[in-house]
Amino acid sequence: MTDQQLLTLAGEARTHAYTPYSRFAVGAALLCEDGTVYTGCNIENASFTPTICAERTAFFKAVYDGKREFTAIAVVGGKEGTPDGTAFPCGVCRQVMAEFCKEDFRIITPDGSYTFGEILPHAFGGF
Ligand code: THU
Repeated sequence: MTDQQLLTLAGEARTHAYTPYSRFAVGAALLCEDGTVYTGCNIENASFTPTICAERTAFFKAVYDGKREFTAIAVVGGKEGTPDGTAFPCGVCRQVMAEFCKEDFRIITPDGSYTFGEILPHAFGGF
C-alpha cells in the first residue's frame, strides 16, 4: 500500500462525510500492521460536541474489529466541494493515536508525511 493509494482511499472516505454545520469534509484511511485498511469520515451533530472526526471514526472501527497495531494514517480535508487538501489531526485525535501508536506511526497528507512523534511530542501515556 503506497502513500498515494492511502490518500486516494482517504479521498473516497471524505465523500461520506456528514457535515451540515461546518461544511468541512474530512476523510481518513488507516493502515494496520497486517495490511488491512480502515476508512473514516467526520460525522457532525446539531449539538456540536458529539461530532466525531474522520481519524477517530477510522480508529474506532479498526479497534472494534480487534486491530491494535497501526502503521500510518492518510488524512485529507477541505470545504465541501473543494479538492482534497491538507487537514492535520486535531488534538483529540492525536491523543487517540497516543493510545495505540508508536512514535514512528506516520501521518500522511497531500503535502507530505510526518511521524507521530513529530506531531505530538511528550504525549500523555497514562497509567
Ligand atoms: N475534523 C476532522 O474530521 N478531523 C480533524 O482532525 C480536524 C477536524 C472535522 C471535525 C468537524 O466536523 C470539521 O472537521 C470542522 O472542524
